[in-house]
Amino acid sequence: MNSSAIRSTWSSRWAFILVTIGSSVGLGNIWKFPYMAGSQGGSAFVLLYFLCVLLIGLPLLMAEILIGRRGKGNPVSAMLNTAEETRSSPLWGLLGWAGVLGALLILSFYSVVAGWIMDYLYQALMGMRVDSATEAQARFAALLASPWRLGLWHTLFMVLVIGVIARGVVGGIEFANRIMMPGLFLILVALTLWGAVAGDISAAWHFLFDFRLEDITPSVVLAAMGHAFFSLSLGMGAIMAYGSYLDHESNIASTSAWVAAAGTLVGILAGLAIFSLTFQHGLQPTEGAGLILMTLPLAFSHMPGGNFFAILFFLLVLFAAWTSAISLLEPFVAWLTERLGIHRPAAAWGTGGAVWLLGIGVCLSFNVWAEYRLSWRSLDLNLFDGLDFLTSRLMMPLSGLAIAIYVGWVMGRGIVAEEIRLPPRLFALWFNILRYVVPVGIICVFCWYALPPEFRPGVIRILLRPFDVLLHLF
Ligand code: PFF
Repeated sequence: MNSSAIRSTWSSRWAFILVTIGSSVGLGNIWKFPYMAGSQGGSAFVLLYFLCVLLIGLPLLMAEILIGRRGKGNPVSAMLNTAEETRSSPLWGLLGWAGVLGALLILSFYSVVAGWIMDYLYQALMGMRVDSATEAQARFAALLASPWRLGLWHTLFMVLVIGVIARGVVGGIEFANRIMMPGLFLILVALTLWGAVAGDISAAWHFLFDFRLEDITPSVVLAAMGHAFFSLSLGMGAIMAYGSYLDHESNIASTSAWVAAAGTLVGILAGLAIFSLTFQHGLQPTEGAGLILMTLPLAFSHMPGGNFFAILFFLLVLFAAWTSAISLLEPFVAWLTERLGIHRPAAAWGTGGAVWLLGIGVCLSFNVWAEYRLSWRSLDLNLFDGLDFLTSRLMMPLSGLAIAIYVGWVMGRGIVAEEIRLPPRLFALWFNILRYVVPVGIICVFCWYALPPEFRPGVIRILLRPFDVLLHLF
């Protein structure tokens, strides 16, 4: 039987928006955005990230939902179904595969970071107090140094994720999203207000928004683009898989705009809150992956009712991580059940088990295996950083490039227009951005990054020449 005939759909358009926000808003916005902005020079990263969300991320988000809804299936089947409908090569199915496997790679380290949040939630429940920046740093270092602690929380988190997937997506997460997502938003607003009252919000503002041209380097550009993909869950089939449950009445464009806006807003709020407190407590923005776990416990310890807020905050972040992680495991499990007829629970536990094992490697890369590193040019990566680099900065943008080419050039304007029901001018704007701006943008960022450093200033000069000429004209 055709699986599309029996696919359930979300209970309403808002339900889809909420679960898609659930997938896209997660550790990427709350943990990774401040950590990346802090270690990539602040405002240059932030501005480039906004640009990438608007010019690359949003158009691609629409394209991915479109493929999912039209192809009605897991990412591999959705690609194959639409390729068949448009009489294009079945090799496009490989794009679905790249996404599905990439998502599992992301999940392996995502789950470890979610485990950090669980550890801190536990500490908060035990009444954690942190009085100085040194203590905050030591606390985080102690967590990373313990393979057992890391492994235990990672295991628990994976069980939580597999548990939901084993029972089926629709219904399970819809309900939870309705309560937790608005809760997370409210607590972030409260934290930002606290940052404004007790922290140094003007320093945070300058750090995030005072743009300096000289801070733009190829690695900042690549990082910003990669983060736009990561935070919007692009290129990994997650959005396609959710799109396949979307009914035909819903408007893909406005839904995508909501999702992109929510993620960006959460990132900004988290950034403002974290950096106000980071500067206030004498921590450095460049603390790295542990930034929020050093800054926030310190802030909570100085806040009236801080312990209560700490518990609530870590609980909500954990929830945000959970809903995103679910969307990382769902595509492959959907493929196993729909294509191979494997029982959902078996597919979920089997796939989750493999991801868990890789995640154990990630836990060890912070301690026992810390000396195994990949070094290339300015890069020096352990397994954790390596998986992040491979997925966010290479696989996601490359898949995004292929999706833009597929929807923009291969599927055919007629089918695309049937799915994206926008007024003609807006449609043309979106379609042209997808056809030209997205692919050219992604290729340029890659080329610039790969260009040997000695050629870069020359290339920038050539690229900036038209602007120079324009400036002299006026
Ligand atoms: N967008 C999620 C976050 O920001 O935490 C992470 C993510 C989920 C990435 C799903 C990719 C994905 F397919």
